[in-house]
Amino acid sequence: MMYKDTLSVVKTNPVIVALDVPSASQAIHLARSLAPFVGAVKIGKELFVSAGPAVVRDIQSDGIPIFLDLKFHDIPNTVAKAVAAATRLGVRMLTVHASGGSEMMRAAVRAARDTASELMAPVPRVLAVTVLTSMDSAALAELGGETDVASQVERLASLAVRAGITGLVCSPLELPRLRKLLPPTIELVTPGIRTGSEKVDDQKRTLTPREALEAGATWLVIGRPIYAAADPAAAARSIWNSLQSESPIS
Ligand code: C5P
Repeated sequence: MMYKDTLSVVKTNPVIVALDVPSASQAIHLARSLAPFVGAVKIGKELFVSAGPAVVRDIQSDGIPIFLDLKFHDIPNTVAKAVAAATRLGVRMLTVHASGGSEMMRAAVRAARDTASELMAPVPRVLAVTVLTSMDSAALAELGGETDVASQVERLASLAVRAGITGLVCSPLELPRLRKLLPPTIELVTPGIRTGSEKVDDQKRTLTPREALEAGATWLVIGRPIYAAADPAAAARSIWNSLQSESPIS
């Protein structure tokens, strides 16, 4: 299903490059070379645990927006404190697990808003992760409760939105159903993007950048097609150029 008929000119670069590299020096080098061609960079658990908040500050000091993907899941008070700390760090997006429950998500949203307001800084987007794409119905069955992955994704997405969350991380295949289910202002952040020119890897269900935007994605998380390319800056530039074409989507 097509969510948008035409992708006239994309003004804001929707590409978030995943800096899935182990060291600060690699991450900083990549971020600097990619900055002109991406909208933000994503720092996940490996890089954050090995390089810490310093790598966030270093990359941000070059004016590059950071998506801190640590997928918080804990009691509401602890998550609120972690979100407040991430907001003080200056990140523009962060993630929590919707399965932490509505009270936890409300606490996260409130902490982001209150901390940003104290600092007179912009409020970071608090995004919710529904069901990890590594989970199938057998894995859900082990936990008890709902065993249909799509139903559980929809249940957690609705719960997140009711708790004040304004963005969700979802797989390309979930885009059409979530776009039907959720208010249009909800941002959908989608990994599993492949251009078609890279090696096959562990992403099984993929869309191209344009297809994902057509299907309703707001932001595209792209890792290996950019950072593992022979020339990462050229790969990012080519993706950005492909999205800026004025031609209607064919
Ligand atoms: O290299 P690749 O483009 O597959 O990287 C995708 C990024 O998005 C990685 O950082 C991965 O951890 C993350 N991600 C994902 N699938 C999800 C959630 C996050 O691939 N369902």
